[in-house]
Amino acid sequence: MTSKGYQAWLQNGFEPDHAAMGPIHDFLQQIITTAQAGSGIYQTAVQELVDGIRSITGQKPVCMESGSGRYLTLGTIGSSSFIDQSIEAGEAERLGDEGFVIRKVDRGEHVYIVLAGKTEKGLLYAVFHFLRLLKTGGLTDQVDVTEVPKYRLRMVNHWDNMDGSVERGYAGQSIFYRNDVLLSRSARVRDYARLLASVGINGIAINNVNVHRHETRLITEVYLPDVARIADIFRNYGIRLYLSVNFAAPIELGDLRTADPLDADVQKWWKEKAADVYCYVPDFGGFLVKADSENRPGPFTYGRDHADGANMLAEALKPYGGIVLWRCFVYNCHQDWRDRTTDRARAAYDHFKPLDGRFLDNVVLQIKNGPMDFQVREPVSPLIGAMEKTNQIVEFQITQEYTGQQKDVCYLIPQWKEVLDFDTRIKGEGSTVKEIAAGLVHPYVHSGITAVSNIGDDLNWTGHHLAQANLYGYGRLIWNPELSSELIAKEWALLTFGPNKAAADTIADILMASWPIYEKYTSPLGVGWMVRPHYHYGPDIDGYEYSKWGTYHFADCHGIGVDRTQSTGTGYSAQYEKANSELYENLETCPDELLLFFHHVPYTHRLKSGKTVIQHIYDTHFEGVEQVEQVISRWRGLEGDIDAERYRHVCGRLEAQLENAKEWRDVINTYFYRKSAIPDEKNRVIY
Ligand code: GCU
Repeated sequence: MTSKGYQAWLQNGFEPDHAAMGPIHDFLQQIITTAQAGSGIYQTAVQELVDGIRSITGQKPVCMESGSGRYLTLGTIGSSSFIDQSIEAGEAERLGDEGFVIRKVDRGEHVYIVLAGKTEKGLLYAVFHFLRLLKTGGLTDQVDVTEVPKYRLRMVNHWDNMDGSVERGYAGQSIFYRNDVLLSRSARVRDYARLLASVGINGIAINNVNVHRHETRLITEVYLPDVARIADIFRNYGIRLYLSVNFAAPIELGDLRTADPLDADVQKWWKEKAADVYCYVPDFGGFLVKADSENRPGPFTYGRDHADGANMLAEALKPYGGIVLWRCFVYNCHQDWRDRTTDRARAAYDHFKPLDGRFLDNVVLQIKNGPMDFQVREPVSPLIGAMEKTNQIVEFQITQEYTGQQKDVCYLIPQWKEVLDFDTRIKGEGSTVKEIAAGLVHPYVHSGITAVSNIGDDLNWTGHHLAQANLYGYGRLIWNPELSSELIAKEWALLTFGPNKAAADTIADILMASWPIYEKYTSPLGVGWMVRPHYHYGPDIDGYEYSKWGTYHFADCHGIGVDRTQSTGTGYSAQYEKANSELYENLETCPDELLLFFHHVPYTHRLKSGKTVIQHIYDTHFEGVEQVEQVISRWRGLEGDIDAERYRHVCGRLEAQLENAKEWRDVINTYFYRKSAIPDEKNRVIY
């Protein structure tokens, strides 16, 4: 398709910075391939390199098996002497299964740039990285780049249903399903695989964790031929396919009367299902499971625990090398709001921590980044790193459920970076989430990062054009968490909107300001929620206050916040290691941005900023709106610098965001003025 929105960060007809590309230009006319022709990933790599170069230079490079002069060559280590001569001793080991080198070699009559991996997957990543460097002016003719991804599992999850809807989707319908049929021949699936592979994603779960009736049958012969076709598409891009499964499937498919994980027939049933799946998809990744969570079935029904449930599935997948991704988003969703002792934030840790050591080594616990649910601000989940003997994967949410729903701009990379940089201190200083998820703090057999995708069948994939930056940035960040949010934003803007550096800088500035702005005009100081129930967009301060969901702010005429301290509250703060636990426990040391997550305080409480809580609420809400206005005027300054279609589209979204921000400002300020009766020091309009 020709739309620029559709091409996202892999634009055709890219106008590069010719000055920056000059020295490289001579290498781009010939590609020497190696004799690996049979494999899908290798073919993909060559094709992407050819197409990518053509899209930049306008000329298709010639592919040959030998050549001289200046050229590019690509292959796996061991496949050609030209490649092997450019690799140092021990380098193949260091590259591992997914790393690569891009390196210039000068041998007199042969002067070439090598793109090589130990595996074809590494090679594919080398190609995408090479093209990215070429487009962003990051290549010199002395190029020598080595890259190895930080995380082994780098996944996306889709909350897509087979009727075509996407749970928490804000960009149209599913690209995978329509009317209970899999769109396994859709060109769009391949284009999505390209986008994902270009930023290093290597796993995808293609159906919602809430597994409904039709989706329960994805692991049966009814749908497996189609599942296999989709897996083939992703395989050619180095991406493994996973499915979410229904724990009660043996019953719901009408085969058994129980789903008890300790029942021999149930165990046999899952083993047979696993065998079927692997028959169709030999490199199937495994099962993703939401069990005993938000009314989904699970082992509790039979008096069993999560380890019993997960291990039963793990046994079934083990012979094939598959894994179970078992979600820890487990809490009581039928809470009585009058009950002040139950604290939803505690739930994941309380459920899972005691089970450490009980899980098989092909079970991976999937833990949301925070203890609640992807709020604009939450502390890091205390379960991350707390289980030494149990594999873990951290779960982020790219889809903007609570962060503006792709109507408002909210660049999430800075949020995820804060999570990754958080030092849990579980094994002393340096036990950051970043290292834990890499399996470097505890020796996890499987670990990494996953996230709920933000795409749908809207022509531009993500609804808001600027929301593409979150998917792009997610992939880049989990390949290398040391990359800065700014660098990722600039890189994305250049690739997506073209090589106008000033325009890219403005777009990056807008992205960088967006999360703090969104935080300012929504719920204050880490307390979360206050959103319209079910939809989660727009303000409804008491929408969840008297509900069963365990998400309260406890505002009254004196103060606001949830007391999660050990001394007087729910004791949640004690789930952290001592230093962090004390930091949060004490009012004096608790960071302002999380104050109301951990403490209930009077409106007159003074923050570290010197402001009272109530004045902070007023100020941030006025500022939030003013800053959206500034964003709009900066964006308007881009008219003529970027294509008219995307320019106008974003203008429309920003105007809608401004309305949303005003609504939040006025509802929040009015609510707290009426509760507290404390006027705004600056005497601004509050209703
Ligand atoms: C949130 C979200 C649900 C989703 C759930 C989950 O609660 O609103 O739609 O199913 O998270 O992560 O399982």
